[in-house]
Amino acid sequence: MPHRLVTSHKPASLSDNSFTLINALKLDTKAELDALAKGLLAPAASLSPKFFYDALGSTLYNAIVLTDEYYPTRTEAAIFEKFRREIAAVIGSGKQFVDLGSGDSVKAEKWFAALKPSRYVGVDISESALNDALSRLAGNADAPELFGLVTDFSRVLDVTAVIEKQPTVFFYPGSSIGNFLPDDAVWFLKQIRAHCVTHDCGLLIGVDAKKDKARLDAAYDDALGVTAAFNLNALRNVNRLLGCDFDVNDWQHRGFYNEAMGRIEMHLEARRAVKIHVRGEVRAFTAGERIHTENSYKYSPEQFEAILHEAGFRSPKLWQDEKRDFNVFYAKN
Ligand code: AVI
Repeated sequence: MPHRLVTSHKPASLSDNSFTLINALKLDTKAELDALAKGLLAPAASLSPKFFYDALGSTLYNAIVLTDEYYPTRTEAAIFEKFRREIAAVIGSGKQFVDLGSGDSVKAEKWFAALKPSRYVGVDISESALNDALSRLAGNADAPELFGLVTDFSRVLDVTAVIEKQPTVFFYPGSSIGNFLPDDAVWFLKQIRAHCVTHDCGLLIGVDAKKDKARLDAAYDDALGVTAAFNLNALRNVNRLLGCDFDVNDWQHRGFYNEAMGRIEMHLEARRAVKIHVRGEVRAFTAGERIHTENSYKYSPEQFEAILHEAGFRSPKLWQDEKRDFNVFYAKN
């Protein structure tokens, strides 16, 4: 799952017979909300996509991946299914498996039989998601020793509290890397690489590919309006977090492929002139003015290989579906 903002903070290390869960979340809620207000008040208004993922937003995201138009999730799953043995042979068995943005851990669990990991480390910003996922995995006969780390790695990746110095595979599926600006993607991958402290570590990552604009436009503006609801829901979340007075009816979803930038852009566009109260200030939006809510970069295999290389990873191996809609890479440290 992508980055979600939770506002509760329970420092805890919870260990029962089946798994260990460490909460290292240092959420600076004030700084997060200050940044949110600043983005809305800026001349070119924006908000971070992390504000999509309240309870309703997470449910809407789970619905997006079921729409006919949103191909990335099912295409990545098909690549993993088709090439699982081959990919596992390249990675090698018995490694520590670190699942970044583990969510419900369902994608990772499918690798247990093939990779026979020595340990599983789920990393997520949601303690409840980790707790539920690890409890479920504990019932899987193929499951290794189970660990969970609650942290917000969109700021800094630090999983040292829970990983062992041993050969490790980092798992970052779902093209979540596309939600970073390219320079930030390199910075994030460098942080993963910095955790590769022994020989024989690597990164298994899913990255959406560049393709026909019409298909990309449809994937982020589906006919049922699920992506529109997902985008608009951010306004409800912002009202709750900042006490703003956005009326969802005054806004419409825009999601399209910007070919020159090689990215999907999502915006919320004012249907009419509106005035919004943001922490005692008034932000006047003209009709047609937009709030930029998300980027989703699409990479050709060559472009992403260059990013892996810049981050210090080497010997990337690539697997794709027949239509070359989606890239799966394994690269070594
Ligand atoms: C989470 N992330 C990889 C999704 C994407 O495709 O960029 C988020 C999303 N936004 C709209 N639809 C899906």
